[in-house]
Amino acid sequence: MVAATLTVENHLPADFTARTLREDVLAGLTAPDKWLPPRWFYDDRGSELFDEITRLPEYYPTRAERSILQARAAEIAAVSAATSLVELGAGSAEKTHLLIDAFRATGSFRTYIPVDVSDAALRTASAGLLWEYPGLAVHAVVADFERHLDRLPTTGHRMVALLGGTIGNLVPETRARFLKNVRSALRPGETLLLGTDLVKSPDVLIPAYDDAAGVTAEFNRNVLNVLNRELGADFETDAFTHVAAWDAEHEWIEMRLRAGHAMRVRIPAVDLSVGLERGETIRTEISAKFRREGVAAELSAAGFGLTRWWTDEEGRFGLGLATAG
Ligand code: SAH
Ligand code: AVI
Repeated sequence: MVAATLTVENHLPADFTARTLREDVLAGLTAPDKWLPPRWFYDDRGSELFDEITRLPEYYPTRAERSILQARAAEIAAVSAATSLVELGAGSAEKTHLLIDAFRATGSFRTYIPVDVSDAALRTASAGLLWEYPGLAVHAVVADFERHLDRLPTTGHRMVALLGGTIGNLVPETRARFLKNVRSALRPGETLLLGTDLVKSPDVLIPAYDDAAGVTAEFNRNVLNVLNRELGADFETDAFTHVAAWDAEHEWIEMRLRAGHAMRVRIPAVDLSVGLERGETIRTEISAKFRREGVAAELSAAGFGLTRWWTDEEGRFGLGLATAG
């Protein structure tokens, strides 16, 4: 039996959290409409809470995408002819098993390269994969996919995957830049597998982001715990309520945290004191929903052609396989 191997490459500078979080907090919490970028949700607790969200009855995207992968993984492996899989924002890589099974069945697959800002999520996911797949080489990369795509490993004929609808958490300008950066990192003929949650009734969308058990609310508030821990802030997390709203103009869900009373929050690490009115909100995430034509146009603008497009049976989620031109 060939031994499985794990290598880990870390592109985050030692002061990444300290420096980048400070920059984000200074920019976001001094803006007229306060915001924080969603990447800070995913400390160890946040990653656990996200995994819990994926199992909630209301949160359909994970199940819908898994059903597409179950039906299409063999076709994805055949059409992409990839020998290595680079997964951006891999998280627990739970659905990835379906892809790796299909790739291994081709006999030419060699390396899985999960990329994530969460070192803990990467190590847990990699350990599970190494145990399950003897002979698989896992090369984990701790990196920010908004900053470090120029450093992606060049091993084999690659398919880059961004699953779960994570592309929807980027605002449109960042999304366009991100797709161009993915294209620049690839050679012509290499592919991008892109999971996109589709536009649907707010009656389905809102509960998916405001579940009855309150897990999404806890996930949302957890970002304040991150600021308290990392920057010495004194957010009273229980004073904030979770808000999930559908923005029909932009076709995205917005998650916000609403202050239950007027307050002043101190954030010593950035020497900032932030005043919040009663009812004022901080935007913590957008989760854009897509249509096939929009996905094809955005991919085309970045230099990709949409080679295949699949949805689940209920048309809730789209999975596109795009080829670098
Ligand atoms: N792909 C998985 C997990 C999605 S959760 C799924 O489909 O279920 C989003 C993941 O992206 C988290 O693991 C988070 O740590 C990671 N992430 C968020 N922003 C990131 C960034 N800027 N760079 C790298 N990883 C990021
Ligand atoms: C990771 N991302 C695709 C999730 C989403 O649905 O936008 C994050 C999430 N936020 C609330 N619930 C799940």
